Amino acid sequence: TMGPFIFFTTLLHMCCHFHRASSWTVNNFLMTGPKAFLTYASSVQSGAQRGIQECKHQFALHKWNCPERTLHMSTHNGIRSATRETSFVHAISAAGVMYTLTKNCSMGDLENCGCDDSRIGQAGGKGWIWGGCSDNVEFGENISKQFVDALENGHDSRAAVNLHNNEAGRLAIMATMRKACKCHGVSGSCSIQTCWMQLADFREVGNYLKLKHEQAKKLEVDKRPARVGNIADNRGTLARSLGGIAKTELIYLEDSPDYCIQNLSLGYQGTEGRECVKRGRNRWEKKSCRRLCHECGLKVVEKRVEVVSSCNCKFHWCCTVKCQKCTQTVMKFYCARRPAGRKPHNKSRRKHHMRRP
Ligand SMILES: *[C@@H]1O[C@H](CO)[C@@H](O)[C@H](O)[C@H]1NC(C)=O
Ligand SMILES: *[C@@H]1O[C@H](CO)[C@@H](O)[C@H](O)[C@H]1NC(C)=O
Ligand SMILES: *[C@@H]1O[C@H](CO)[C@@H](O)[C@H](O)[C@H]1NC(C)=O
Ligand SMILES: *[C@@H]1O[C@H](CO)[C@@H](O)[C@H](O)[C@H]1NC(C)=O
Repeated sequence: TMGPFIFFTTLLHMCCHFHRASSWTVNNFLMTGPKAFLTYASSVQSGAQRGIQECKHQFALHKWNCPERTLHMSTHNGIRSATRETSFVHAISAAGVMYTLTKNCSMGDLENCGCDDSRIGQAGGKGWIWGGCSDNVEFGENISKQFVDALENGHDSRAAVNLHNNEAGRLAIMATMRKACKCHGVSGSCSIQTCWMQLADFREVGNYLKLKHEQAKKLEVDKRPARVGNIADNRGTLARSLGGIAKTELIYLEDSPDYCIQNLSLGYQGTEGRECVKRGRNRWEKKSCRRLCHECGLKVVEKRVEVVSSCNCKFHWCCTVKCQKCTQTVMKFYCARRPAGRKPHNKSRRKHHMRRP
């Protein structure tokens, strides 16, 4: 796909700029040269990809279904929007990059970092001490910030909002971390435990940020044109409005557009061709065909699809599992254009999509 390519092009741009000029726009750059830069580049790229994948999962049955490409495309093509949805994209991508770098570090993939052992041996609480390998989120945070935030080079309110949402994404990693412990003591009596902090499953980070998306706050920025040349004045106003919002909350500037209709320059596909489910497990799923197709003036078409999966798995001594491939025919449902001339059903469309983009 184009996604990683574009992201990587951006990275290379950063790389070479860095290479040419001996100073880098971000002051406390931990790395000392292009070699170090390239060490992290693959992790950053796969982290951004992880974020987009999670976004696709979280929004599978929403009209808006995440960009195909990783973020920051929008920064370069001149059209930038700061909607509730782009706030999520910034947060989940920043989180994905921090998460992947932190994991890489714990797995020993990177030479110059390892577990966070700063508290090892210290008393943690009643009956436990710090031990084991705590995920080094500080490292992940440092490096990811330098890659992801550096892409935001504007000085306008959108740049400020994007940076805020990047930070909210990184804080989601912190907020979902948990303590894991191991028992010690005579015959597993667990009289003393050693504990460490570990990253949650990335799915949990996605669930957490999805909730933040639902609760996202619109920032009211003074739209009156600033007196000519008085940008600083505007920035002051923005800083004041941002100041009242917790760093963990997502913020946006513009209302969501109608995601039914494709607008490629803004990076969304419309709902034509999207899959929906007829027999869902909950109300949200059950209403998905109505939401994605009918509310968008499309009809639902049924298609017979062959799904190949593993089956009849047998365990062979020792130690392999052998499976057969089974083909199953299932019915799937998709949104399709109505034949021309027929009036689309769009009775409740506006009402619905304003509530749930
Ligand atoms: C970090 O992890 C990701 C996926 O988990 C992987 O694609 C990437 O290559 C790793 N980076 C390094 C430097 O090993
Ligand atoms: C992260 O960056 C801060 C300051 O930028 C520095 O003090 C700290 O040592 C860094 N931590 C790691 C783990 O690299
Ligand atoms: C896409 O959105 C932009 C910005 O709102 C608008 O100018 C443009 O006309 C839209 N394009 C289509 C094809 O709707
Ligand atoms: C769909 O709904 C909108 C807004 O309610 C209305 O303006 C439009 O005419 C409708 N379109 C059709 C084709 O009926």
